[in-house]
Amino acid sequence: MSAFVINGGRRISGSIRVQGSKNSVLPILAATVLVNGTSVIHNCPDLSDTAGTVKILKNLGCKVLREGNSIIVDSTNVTSSEIPESLMREMRSSVIFLGAILGRVKSAVVSTPGGCEIGLRPIDLHIYAMKQLGVDIAEDYGKLVCSAPNGLVGKKITFSFPSVGATENAILASVTAKGTTTIVNAAREPEIIDLCAFLNKCGGEIYGAGESVITIKGKERLNPCEYSVICDRIACATYLIAGAVTGGDVNLENTNPVHLNAIIPPLEEAGCHINVRCKEIRLKAPRRLNRIDKIITQPYPGFPTDAQAPFTTLVCVAKGTSVIVENIFESRFKHIPELVRMGAKIRMEGRVAVIDGVERLYGAEVVSPDLRGGAALVLAGLCADGITTVRNTRFIDRGYEDFENNLSMLNADVRRKAN
Ligand code: UD1
Repeated sequence: MSAFVINGGRRISGSIRVQGSKNSVLPILAATVLVNGTSVIHNCPDLSDTAGTVKILKNLGCKVLREGNSIIVDSTNVTSSEIPESLMREMRSSVIFLGAILGRVKSAVVSTPGGCEIGLRPIDLHIYAMKQLGVDIAEDYGKLVCSAPNGLVGKKITFSFPSVGATENAILASVTAKGTTTIVNAAREPEIIDLCAFLNKCGGEIYGAGESVITIKGKERLNPCEYSVICDRIACATYLIAGAVTGGDVNLENTNPVHLNAIIPPLEEAGCHINVRCKEIRLKAPRRLNRIDKIITQPYPGFPTDAQAPFTTLVCVAKGTSVIVENIFESRFKHIPELVRMGAKIRMEGRVAVIDGVERLYGAEVVSPDLRGGAALVLAGLCADGITTVRNTRFIDRGYEDFENNLSMLNADVRRKAN
């Protein structure tokens, strides 16, 4: 267990290259299970969640090698179709392997996934999608025993909600199924487009990624390829906010500004000046931020729930009252009591938080409640008076590569200590 110790009040400035996307690399690594041969995936962030995914791949019989930011997966021999409970519990995204394993070996045994404690996070939509494709699913003491003895068969899948993970699972299971699958009310996140671009590069035939309707023509086999994952849009948002809350001047390299279409307007509303040039984004912050009228989390292209906690910190130190509505996960306000310990003025009612901005926050001992909530507390520490200790860095390490070093390169005074 370790903690981040932040000596607040330094102006965040400078330029860094932003990591590859956590939410892209996980499904793409799972997708390599479908490939007969060796896939080479570049721009993989070095995260505990990536390491967890590699463990699962190895457990399934794949040979995996990491070379710098590239991960090489040889899936010629997939010898197991079961993910042990201990690995499933490490992270929720392990459920993504369900579609990939079923596509490859037509059977799978998985248990209920773990992950951040940000809500109930059921997997009914994943199960529905698999059943639509002809998979029999039986429950056996907390395990899901799945089989499709006659292979998976393409069908129409209509989601009641555009779940990111369920859309990915449906794509993974159907890309090598017999016939055509249509996904209606599919998630439209950039990470879905990234997964489909990888699968298409392997010879898959997927149309409409990024739209609400995705059509997949099943292929008998996928061929190996080399692929580079997109930049992490939530890490971008986090570093931009680090600049915003400290009156700073931050430049981010290796980004895809189009993926930040819902992030840039509220930053501008807060008074930040944003300059976009090719793959770079530069933010210059005013001396004091303005309030943001309302942030409402929604599926893409709406405002992302993953950026909600970092933006909560931003409005905590803005001039005036801001409102945040969390529509995606019911328990994603766990950072708020910790921010209040640092002097934030926040009232909560169910899924709504009303934040009266204060002139300054004060350093305190706080506990990271989940991945993005933990990042929000580090951001609070950067602009607070005095020393902030954020415990439970293991959550933050799930999503931010080299967090303290990147922040230090941007002039922050942050260090990791064992606790
Ligand atoms: C993914 C992202 C996560 C992000 C979220 C929403 C990864 C690894 N994680 O998570 O960072 O916060 O998208 O953008 O990519 N739901 C159901 N039944 C299901 C599945 C989901 O009711 O079977 C509900 C969830 O409880 C939640 C909502 O749908 O309320 C959104 O979940 P989903 O889009 O599936 O998120 P994840 O794929 O888990």
